[in-house]
Amino acid sequence: MKYYLTTPIYYVNDQPHIGHAYTTVVADVLARYHRQQGRDVFFLTGTDEHGAKIATSASKQGMEPQAFCDLNAAKFKVAWQALDISYDKFIRTTDEYHERAVIKIFQDLYDRGYLEEREYTGLYCVGCEKFLTDKELVDGLCPDHKQPPTSVKEKNWFFKLSEFLPRVRDLIASDEIKILPITRKNEVLGLIKTNSLGDFSVSRQKSSVSWGVELPFDKNQVSYVWVDALSNYITAVGYNQDEAEFNKWWPADLHLMAQDILKFHAVYWPALLLALDLPLFKTEFVHGFFTIDGQKMSKTVGNVIDPIALVEKYGADATRYLLLSQFPFGQEADIKAELFDERYTADLANGYGNAVARVTNLIEKNDITVRWEAADKEWREKIATYYTDLRFDLVIKEAVARIKALDVYINDTKPWQQTDSAELTSVLSHCANELKTISETLFPFMPAKAAAVLDCLNNDKIKKGPNLFPRLS
Ligand code: MSP
Repeated sequence: MKYYLTTPIYYVNDQPHIGHAYTTVVADVLARYHRQQGRDVFFLTGTDEHGAKIATSASKQGMEPQAFCDLNAAKFKVAWQALDISYDKFIRTTDEYHERAVIKIFQDLYDRGYLEEREYTGLYCVGCEKFLTDKELVDGLCPDHKQPPTSVKEKNWFFKLSEFLPRVRDLIASDEIKILPITRKNEVLGLIKTNSLGDFSVSRQKSSVSWGVELPFDKNQVSYVWVDALSNYITAVGYNQDEAEFNKWWPADLHLMAQDILKFHAVYWPALLLALDLPLFKTEFVHGFFTIDGQKMSKTVGNVIDPIALVEKYGADATRYLLLSQFPFGQEADIKAELFDERYTADLANGYGNAVARVTNLIEKNDITVRWEAADKEWREKIATYYTDLRFDLVIKEAVARIKALDVYINDTKPWQQTDSAELTSVLSHCANELKTISETLFPFMPAKAAAVLDCLNNDKIKKGPNLFPRLS
């Protein structure tokens, strides 16, 4: 069975930060879990590189847009490598095959009669890459970027969204396309109901924004970034290039993102797919935005966390674990930096790491040949339901409880006092089996550490395992 999942493609004007890392680690945990279950997985991530926002950032640095994109896309790749992200493909919207497919998409939309040229006047926020209404402004400023929007008056091509809205609404309401959690589904349905979503402009005049894909039927216009960006989910898997590949992977099983880009994914994207007469994605899971120590992450506050700094301190595996164990996936929440140290020491150094050292040490000392048991099916099924609901925090919680129970079992059975060798083999075999189950469960979160433990257990003569989680200095 195939499983195709995606992260948003991140804007290259920003450095990869803990927010991008969070969604990407979540996707990686899912990808690794589904691979572990024997599924054929395609995990896509990448960078969003066109548009006014990128062009402006490049010129501020005195760089050509393409050189600027190359430089920053590389930073995302470095960060994902540091976090041991096992993506199958990293798409960049400046990739030539993607640009070619975007041209085809525009031509199709045009040929099908879904585009119309209109005069447009509006207030545009470059930070959001979207038009804002007067109502959305706070004291005349974009509420997110605290910048005055620019007044734009130009001729643009519009996508006739209104023709698709009733169908999009029905598809969401009937769960034919699932928007999860349910609060987000209701939010989108509410948004559609307000009638505030009209046809939207899908191009920009080249004279005002030149960094984009030129429209095939109008050389004076370039693609609006969101049409270009959303298309990545199909162009990355062979759309307009390799039909067999495309049919193998599309529709996507899961698009992951945070609430900031819900409207684009839950309304615009299905409407565009309907217009192109393509199958619809199956599920979108929309997680909350988190704050850092109670404050919105921002350069001015100075609380932007660099994922590479976390990896340097805790290692890749622990960073992944610490990110996902902070709060239930989906919720809007706060990341408390001081909790990282606490959890590292409690769950990893004193918990999992210590259990591995204790058990493997006792097995080596007593020269035990472990009796392996069949897999714990009930446990696997329980974990599978957590994955269905994307409750990573519960997978972690259960694993931590099982580590604690193992610790209690060792304290109770006191293998170091045991003189009966059959009994000792039985007790330590139980411990080794427990470690195996726990490590298999933790593998998607901590692939290198869990694999090291599984390798160590996989030997005929088990030797004391590695020191997995050194104490923090
Ligand atoms: N380029 C668009 C997405 C196009 S997808 C077809 C974009 N890029 S972004 O760089 O701004 O990334 C937004 C995404 O980054 C969020 O949806 C989320 O996945 C992640 N996050 C960024 N900051 C975050 C938090 N503070 N909290 C949680 N997720 C965060 O939007």
